[in-house]
Amino acid sequence: MAPVDQPVALCASSDLLEGGDAVPFEVRWRAEPCRAFAVRWRGRVHAYLNRCSHLPMEMDFQPNRFFDSSGQWLICATHGATYRPDTGACAAGPCRGPLTAITVEEVAGTVFWRPSKDIQPEPTFDDL
Ligand code: FES
Repeated sequence: MAPVDQPVALCASSDLLEGGDAVPFEVRWRAEPCRAFAVRWRGRVHAYLNRCSHLPMEMDFQPNRFFDSSGQWLICATHGATYRPDTGACAAGPCRGPLTAITVEEVAGTVFWRPSKDIQPEPTFDDL
């Protein structure tokens, strides 16, 4: 399968509320299945692999909940590492680096994510 570099539609812009639940999506990260998520913060959409930099674990403490109670930080449910919502940079806790960011864009009310060399869409039935 050839690498995909075209934007992939993720959701309607209205699906992502400020500081609200994330929209999850599935990707292939370095050829392995991996979950990812998108959130809205200060008006802009940001997306990351759902993979803490402390240990390779998913971060949500309830399904699709990544913001802490202040709504200012993304927090890992396992040991409490916190990350900046806009960059994925480690803010506090035991993280060992930033989250892995995924490029996103909003066009005409739709959110798209952009594949990269390491992060590709899940294969579809037609790809198999
Ligand atoms: S696995 Fe996320 S803080 Fe430890």
